[in-house]
Amino acid sequence: MIGPRVNPLVRDTASPAILQARAWLDSYDGNKGPRIDLSQAAPPYPPPQELVDHLSAAAGLAETARYGPVPGEYELRKAYAEHASQLYDTTIDPQETSITAGCNQAFLIAAMLVAKKGDAVLLPTPWYFNHKMTLDMLGIEVRQVPCSADAFFEPSLPIAKTLIDNNVRAIVLVTPNNPTGAVYSPATIEAFADLCRDHGIWLILDETYRDFLPEGPRKPHSLFDDRFRNNIISLYSFSKSLALPGYRLGAMIYPARVAEHVIKVQDCVQICPARAGQLAVTWALGGLDEWRRNKRQQFSDKARAFRSAMADVVGWEIVSIGAYFAYIRHPFSGSDAGVIAERLASENGLLLIPGSFFGPGQARYLRLSFGNLTPESLRALPTRFRLGPYNAFSNRTAPV
Ligand SMILES: Cc1ncc(COP(=O)(O)O)c(C=O)c1O
Repeated sequence: MIGPRVNPLVRDTASPAILQARAWLDSYDGNKGPRIDLSQAAPPYPPPQELVDHLSAAAGLAETARYGPVPGEYELRKAYAEHASQLYDTTIDPQETSITAGCNQAFLIAAMLVAKKGDAVLLPTPWYFNHKMTLDMLGIEVRQVPCSADAFFEPSLPIAKTLIDNNVRAIVLVTPNNPTGAVYSPATIEAFADLCRDHGIWLILDETYRDFLPEGPRKPHSLFDDRFRNNIISLYSFSKSLALPGYRLGAMIYPARVAEHVIKVQDCVQICPARAGQLAVTWALGGLDEWRRNKRQQFSDKARAFRSAMADVVGWEIVSIGAYFAYIRHPFSGSDAGVIAERLASENGLLLIPGSFFGPGQARYLRLSFGNLTPESLRALPTRFRLGPYNAFSNRTAPV
């Protein structure tokens, strides 16, 4: 018997990408060696022992079993406000911050805050699939801003301008980017902030991967200067930077004038962020600088090692590489990246995410999370990327 219907907006939303891709690995018989899973952007190492000790101690407190403040523990909001103030050379007040159950929830809150069903949001394409899924489920129209390889995968400002009308409520930027790894220049980020300010719309900036940028003399952008601030919602994740994605902690920064509305959404979607993790992260924001610096260095070393390993992989090309991800072009011009990804996984035990999961026009690309590479898997790459000699899907002969 057919039961009651599912909300069509949810029914018609794409299924979780990583789950779909993982299923391809199930049919790999192991003939080329152990599986190499470069699909997910999860830190391949555990949090440091000192942080684990803080997490255990916090979990043992009776207080952390009670409900906590809706926008998060004040001490963590204060520590995060100070941390961000230092990074962006500005002054952010704890009242302008919220702690969330990860950055995905922060995005959901931001989307609900700024747009209603039928409104529109500009999303650079390729996009982060959970952003697209969230907007689809809320009935918010997504307008694509193309990012081309020729423009280093930065979104096109002239096209964005043409897409803005009275229905548009926000532009979303992800930098460093998922999936391409592209790190937008301060000039690009600020040009988009100008555009948003001029049109009275929001700029939602997801900086989940900002801790993995090589350290430089400049701050990533000036969006927290007074001239932009009123239009900015900044999103961040502790999942990657502190290697605790399972604790589900992220953060937002927004103008104080909207705090009361953010809290309405937070009250309904989580009541309060999980408390034990918040206490430990409050400590970690000041206590793990050196550990974080080391991890940042490891990521740039891995990016370099990956680049040189790919020099031996015939036909494939790295088109973009950044803080956490590389976006690579496959050599099979007639084939969709989904078909190629499925074959790599099932025949060679190598799992990457096809570009087609990140939006239209991405059929030649695949994303990989190079942080998951080990010295052994780096050595195995030339063999694992080899497909063929017969490509059953496009009827072309594949380079070997
Ligand atoms: C761009 C981007 N935003 C948000 C998230 C989600 O992070 P969190 O674990 O904090 O929800 C991810 C995770 O992959 C991401 O790539």
